[in-house]
Amino acid sequence: MGWEDIVAAAREDRGVLRYARPARRALRGVRLPVIRPLLGVVYGVTQLALIGCHFSAKVFYREPLLRYRCARVGKRLNLEGALPQIVGNGRIEIGDDVTIGAPCTWDLGFSVVPTAELIIGDRVSINYRNIISVAKSVRIGDDTLIAGEVAIFDNISHPIAPAKRLARAPITADEVAPVVIGRNVWIGVRSIIMRGLTIGDNSIVAAGSVVTKSVPPNTLVAGNPAVAIRPITET
Ligand SMILES: CC(C)(COP(=O)(O)OP(=O)(O)OC[C@H]1O[C@@H](n2cnc3c(N)ncnc32)[C@H](O)[C@@H]1OP(=O)(O)O)[C@@H](O)C(=O)NCCC(=O)NCCS
Repeated sequence: MGWEDIVAAAREDRGVLRYARPARRALRGVRLPVIRPLLGVVYGVTQLALIGCHFSAKVFYREPLLRYRCARVGKRLNLEGALPQIVGNGRIEIGDDVTIGAPCTWDLGFSVVPTAELIIGDRVSINYRNIISVAKSVRIGDDTLIAGEVAIFDNISHPIAPAKRLARAPITADEVAPVVIGRNVWIGVRSIIMRGLTIGDNSIVAAGSVVTKSVPPNTLVAGNPAVAIRPITET
């Protein structure tokens, strides 16, 4: 009996294989009882092991490597998970009390200027799954909060001209413009910040916005393209 015969017999519920389908169905329903005290211990041990692994990875491996890679990393860095995936050799400075979520991708691998720079101020929080693409300069001011899945670009990423893009031509200096994010700015989840922009101190970029023009200080912007919704007068 070949494999095809076995498959055919199972499909047609012939011979012992007529028990295969009910057995598989019965197996899929098998569940262990939830013995709370026992599972409480197992859960606690698992959590402790995870915390221990995370702590060890952070202290002995991730943070030293990030400190090695960066020109400066301040005190009390809170690296929440894996190392940011850093492409290229641009200069990175990170201030004190900074939180960095995971995973993050920081691309400083363009060859437009000799040294691209990513400067992150004190007490900045950069949440999970960020993309920061730096061909020249991205500066993030003190106390700024950047939510999850925000993308920041100081460059056009790929040439507009189809032939150049097809040829995978690099971007040029005129397709690059620095991004300056002020102090105490809040950038909502899944927002995108395009090249050449300044976002003024204390401003808020609402969730899911695509910012294509500079934002004055103390202003709430939202939408795609982001427009000013109102001044922030709350103290
Ligand atoms: C920016 C934010 C705080 C504004 O909250 P708010 O002051 O309560 O704003 P309102 O609900 O009064 O909305 C004001 C106007 O902006 C619009 N608006 C608010 N958020 C918007 C958004 N993300 N996109 C488009 N328009 C938005 C509202 O529709 C409303 O328009 P209307 O006056 O025509 O009705 C909130 O919308 C937001 O985006 N929060 C970010 C959440 C987030 O990213 N969390 C991650 C954890 S850090």
